[in-house]
Amino acid sequence: MNVLVIHGPNLHLLGKRRPEIYGKATLAQLNAALREHAAWLKVKVRIFQSNCEGEIIDLLTANAAWADALVINPAAYTHYSYAIRDAIEALELPAAEVHLSDISKREPFRRISVIKPVCQAQFMGEGIFSYLKALDLCAGIR
Ligand code: DQA
Repeated sequence: MNVLVIHGPNLHLLGKRRPEIYGKATLAQLNAALREHAAWLKVKVRIFQSNCEGEIIDLLTANAAWADALVINPAAYTHYSYAIRDAIEALELPAAEVHLSDISKREPFRRISVIKPVCQAQFMGEGIFSYLKALDLCAGIR
């Protein structure tokens, strides 16, 4: 099982960006937890972070043949990127949408996900565990 993990814009700032909302862990610490959990699940991961919509689409395209599943935190693109939505749909990647915070309980603009309709599952509000649960789903244990 090969899982492509993509972190969207501003997630490189984890640890110092709104820690009361996104937690104190840095992106490096989050990625270390993902790699450790993936190893335990016997899942291979490729992990990327990008601040650019087009680059995320290029990463999806370049890794689509390798990936059996996608775990994506589209960050702010969640709320308006029809381009990323279309890429996930077009590449027919089984996908789990992930958020550190609970977007359903935040500002009105964050409550909308244009990515959700092309994903099999949505995990949110559990910090790093949102990602780990998405990996569990990919590995078939959830
Ligand atoms: C986020 C929620 C988004 O609304 C926000 O723009 C992010 C992070 C989350 O993980 O909670 O950058 O996707």
